[in-house]
Amino acid sequence: VDRDGTRVFDLRMRAGTTEFRKGVATPTWGFDGSHLGPTLRAKRGERVAVRVRNALDEASSVHWHGMHLPAAMDGGPHQTVAAGSAWTPRWTVDQPAATLWYHPHPHGATERHVRRGLAGMFLLDDEDSERLKLPKTYGVDDLPVMVQDVTFDGAEFDHGHRFLANSGFLGERTMVNGTLDPYAEVRDERVRLRLLNASTARIYTFGFADDRPFALVGTDGGLLPEPASMDRVQLSLGERAEIVVTVRPGERTVLRSYPWRQGNGWERRFDGGDDSFDVLQLRAAERLRPSPAVPARLAADPGLGLPEAGDAVRARHFELRRSGINGRPMAMDRIDRTVTRGTTEVWTLRNAGDMTHNFHVHDAEFRVLDVDGKRPERALRGRKDTVAVPTGSTVRIALRFDGPPDPDIPYMYHCHLLSHEDLGMMGQFVVV
Ligand code: C2O
Ligand code: CU
Ligand code: CU
Repeated sequence: VDRDGTRVFDLRMRAGTTEFRKGVATPTWGFDGSHLGPTLRAKRGERVAVRVRNALDEASSVHWHGMHLPAAMDGGPHQTVAAGSAWTPRWTVDQPAATLWYHPHPHGATERHVRRGLAGMFLLDDEDSERLKLPKTYGVDDLPVMVQDVTFDGAEFDHGHRFLANSGFLGERTMVNGTLDPYAEVRDERVRLRLLNASTARIYTFGFADDRPFALVGTDGGLLPEPASMDRVQLSLGERAEIVVTVRPGERTVLRSYPWRQGNGWERRFDGGDDSFDVLQLRAAERLRPSPAVPARLAADPGLGLPEAGDAVRARHFELRRSGINGRPMAMDRIDRTVTRGTTEVWTLRNAGDMTHNFHVHDAEFRVLDVDGKRPERALRGRKDTVAVPTGSTVRIALRFDGPPDPDIPYMYHCHLLSHEDLGMMGQFVVV
């Protein structure tokens, strides 16, 4: 924290090597370290500044995924940081406690930059979340679980393709927080897992090997009004889920990824729809500290601060195709949409194609109104900034943009399958 009370973070993007296997140096990129980045953490109301330095030999950017902030600080393709230079965005955290993350966003190169290792978590707290009796000791009973898939080709981990899937790169195995064969030692009866799909193309359906239920307590943008018990939660690219699971003394239990529940035959075969992985083993101590029960009420505001369909003054349609949104690939100098500050809009996301996409909107968390006309499943009823739009489906979302207006600097909306985004499945909007 500096003199005027701003919380200052330093991130230096650099190339290095990582020993995923003993004695084998794999080239990787990281923030500060040689792979991935530190977990950043700030509280609602705090001013933050991040000194981003680019020590790579090419331009990149750092985007704060899920963060409500001015467009000039967003870290999208218009805020690139040239090789050897620095950029210091500043903003005031003004949103509920949540599990957010950060990653590069240079147009056309995001997939490569993320896959080489540029990603980290950004956790937000607020007064309510600090009071709530949820597991919250970072690294002890509150664990970041950043899931990515990789393939090793000798020493290189980022060049192997299992096959060319529609979705992009699919690795042969998963890692958590950059660790292969990961396990976590648990000393508490209940543990909170902050699941983040930080892969570039793979969709996961998380659940435990013995199908035990867990409590879903939060989604992309914060806590749910009340916990929801379930045994599977699906995360497409960029989505997060906070779950609380109960373990028994001395046991070993495995968080797995199961085949998708939806998906056509092609996707099941070639886009990873039928794959399953052991993602993370939990090793419970012989004696566990008792944890309080998951509170029946979580977020203080049952409406989650999200708009309803009835508030909308404007409807827009987005036709999702790999070749572009509404038939047009992304163009850096074209503003696709202009939204009015403080107003609610309903966006209809339509995937009439033959492969799954998802949809991410910068700056605003949204409410999922319906999926194919039906009430969304419980994991989609929280604050969201990214949502899967499966093959042949239509998803409607309600959103409101209340950041500072800026007619010149756009925010992005895009498919978060990173190869699709790089190909141009992205558009730009300004808030005026
Ligand atoms: Cu996670 Cu526009 O990105
Ligand atoms: Cu984002
Ligand atoms: Cu896509």
